[in-house]
Amino acid sequence: MRVFAIGATGVLGQRLVPLLLGRGHDVVVMAPGDRLERLPGGVRAVDADLLDPGITEVLTGELAGVDVVVNAATAIPRDFGAPGAWERNTQLRRDGTVRVLNAVLAAGVPAVVQMSVTMAYADGGDAWLTEQASFDPDPARGSIVEPVAAMEKAVVEIGGDRVAWSILRGARFVGAGTAQDAIRARLKEGTLHAHPDDRYTSLVHVADFATAVVAAVERRVSRVVLNIADEPLLVADYLGRLAEHDGAPAPGTSTEAVREVSHRVSSAAARELLDWQPKTGVLPDGESPL
Ligand SMILES: NC(=O)c1ccc[n+]([C@@H]2O[C@H](COP(=O)([O-])OP(=O)(O)OC[C@H]3O[C@@H](n4cnc5c(N)ncnc54)[C@H](OP(=O)(O)O)[C@@H]3O)[C@@H](O)[C@H]2O)c1
Repeated sequence: MRVFAIGATGVLGQRLVPLLLGRGHDVVVMAPGDRLERLPGGVRAVDADLLDPGITEVLTGELAGVDVVVNAATAIPRDFGAPGAWERNTQLRRDGTVRVLNAVLAAGVPAVVQMSVTMAYADGGDAWLTEQASFDPDPARGSIVEPVAAMEKAVVEIGGDRVAWSILRGARFVGAGTAQDAIRARLKEGTLHAHPDDRYTSLVHVADFATAVVAAVERRVSRVVLNIADEPLLVADYLGRLAEHDGAPAPGTSTEAVREVSHRVSSAAARELLDWQPKTGVLPDGESPL
C-alpha cells in the first residue's frame, strides 16, 4: 500500500515507519522539520507544514495515488503551563486536521487513520473507560480536551461513504524518547511522589501503539474509534515498579503531588477489531513486561 504519514518523524513515527517498510508498504513522510533528514532509506520526505495556509493544495497534489493517510502530527509543548503553550498544538488539531481531510477528499484518498489521545477522558475513578466514555468537561483541562474533541468531530463528519476512517486514541506513551524518561529521572532523584488519592493510569509502549497503527492501515477498519492501551495500572503500583526496575528509591505519596486524572482505559474493542495486543509492556525498552 502507498502510505502517506504526516508527522511521522517523531516518537511514534520513528517506530512506525520501519514497521510499515518491513511490511512492504511504500511510505511517504511529511513533516516541517530537520528530522526528515533522519528517515530510513527508501522513504520519500515531504517538507511541509500543516499550519501553512496554502497546505491543502500542496497536500492534494502530494496525495495523488495514496491508499491511506496516517495523521500523527502534534506539537505537545515542553512546558504545559507556559503562556500560550498549547496554541500550536490546538491549531494543528483543529485547522491542521481539517486541511488534511479536505486534501484527502479532494485527492480521492480512500482511507485515513487519525491519531488521538485517551488523555481527553474525564476522571473515571475505578470504572473502565470504553470509547463511549465522556471527554472531560472541566474547563481547567479545556486547552487539552477541546481541540481533541474538535479534531475527532472533523474526522467523524467525513461520513465514511467515500473515505474509510478510524481514530486511534492512544494512552500515554512510554518507552525511550517519551515522557517516561523524565519520570524515571525524577524517580532516581527521589523527587517524584504519587498523590494519595491517585487511582489508575493507562499507558502504552510506543512500539505497541505503532503495531496498532499498522493493523488499522492494513485492515482498513472504518467508522471506528478505538482505545489503544496496555493494561491499566494503579499509579502507585506503576511508579513503584518503575523505581524498582531502575534501582531508584521507592516513591512515597504526598498531598503536595499533582493528583492524576484517573484513566482505567479499556482497549477490548481494539484487541478484537484489530486483533491487536501489546507485546512490549510498559517497563523501559528491552525489559520484560510488568
Ligand atoms: N506522546 C504521547 O504520549 C501520545 C499518546 C497518545 C497518542 N499520541 C498521539 O500520537 C501522535 C504522534 O505523537 P508523537 O509522540 O510521535 O509526537 P512527536 O514526537 O511530538 O512528533 C510530532 C510529529 O508532528 C510533526 N509536526 C509538528 N508540527 C507540525 C506541523 N505544523 N505540520 C506537520 N507536522 C508537524 C513533527 O514534525 P517535526 O519532526 O518537524 O517536529 C513530528 O513529526 C500524535 O497524534 C499524538 O497526539 C501521543
